[in-house]
Amino acid sequence: MNILVTGSRGQLGSEIQRLSGETDGMNFFFPGLPELDIADAEGVARFCDEHRIEAIVNCAAYTAVDRAEEEPEAAFRVNRDGPRALAAVAAGRDALLVHISTDYVFDGESCRPYRETDPTSPLGVYGQSKWEGEEAVRAVSSSHMIVRTSWLYSEFGANFVKTMLRLGAERDALTVVFDQAGTPTRAYDLAAAILAMLGRCDRGRAYAETYHYSNEGVCSWYDFACAVMKLKGFSCRVKPVGSEEYPTRARRPHYSVLHKGKIRADWDLDIPHWYDSLEAMLKRCC
Ligand SMILES: NC(=O)c1ccc[n+]([C@@H]2O[C@H](COP(=O)([O-])OP(=O)(O)OC[C@H]3O[C@@H](n4cnc5c(N)ncnc54)[C@H](OP(=O)(O)O)[C@@H]3O)[C@@H](O)[C@H]2O)c1
Repeated sequence: MNILVTGSRGQLGSEIQRLSGETDGMNFFFPGLPELDIADAEGVARFCDEHRIEAIVNCAAYTAVDRAEEEPEAAFRVNRDGPRALAAVAAGRDALLVHISTDYVFDGESCRPYRETDPTSPLGVYGQSKWEGEEAVRAVSSSHMIVRTSWLYSEFGANFVKTMLRLGAERDALTVVFDQAGTPTRAYDLAAAILAMLGRCDRGRAYAETYHYSNEGVCSWYDFACAVMKLKGFSCRVKPVGSEEYPTRARRPHYSVLHKGKIRADWDLDIPHWYDSLEAMLKRCC
């Protein structure tokens, strides 16, 4: 199976690229920008024709949550128009599209883990653009799996864990919000799950599925920061603060834990706890 992975230089794309060597029967293509711009429908069609693409994994996205408030056109171009272009090309070739989305499609007012069927209500431009990207995929593709994830981190690219590693080594103390709860996701684990799904999927079947995937467990950003300090043995003291003391341009959900029962059951996935995955990542790279 010839598989196009977009956004291959980002956190998730890089992890898929790293794991792709361990797969059988899958032939991957990892173009980055500027070689392949997902919002360039003609460019996408040309690439897919040339390489006889049979499945697409869309890891490309505009992920600057705060900056999106000031440049919504750029966010919607990548997060809505891009998936729409990919879905159209995939539909024309009867190809499966695996599209990655976010917990930020929810407003965080829930007090139990979000299911795939729960109503969405994004709080900002990033979440809205990702939601409209999902809807474009549902409307246009002939076979798709939308996988929403949360709090992604990896040894590749910039993320919360890497910021904590830097600050933990530099400072005696720092403040981190305690009133936003969710679940971190090691991009390596999500990449492994996506490859398992691709390896097991029925190529003759038209999928129309939305899934939730994060690591197991729940924590706040404060808990997450404390775990990094503890696992690294840093003496930096982490002080909890409320979101009102850490104003950001975009509002974030106070609670965005994803319920993973559906993806676990459909694909027989064994999902690691966030603390174990953090420990594994830190052992491996830092
Ligand atoms: N990061 C998180 O905490 C988080 C949380 C929930 C869900 N997600 C979702 O998970 C997915 C993967 O996120 P990630 O953290 O791996 O993202 P990332 O590290 O920001 O990588 C995104 C990649 O997309 C590329 N890209 C941007 N615009 C593009 C375009 N028009 N055409 C082709 N490529 C383009 C970027 O290239 P450049 O670097 O060259 O711009 C970058 O390599 C995304 O769908 C994201 O919305 C992320």
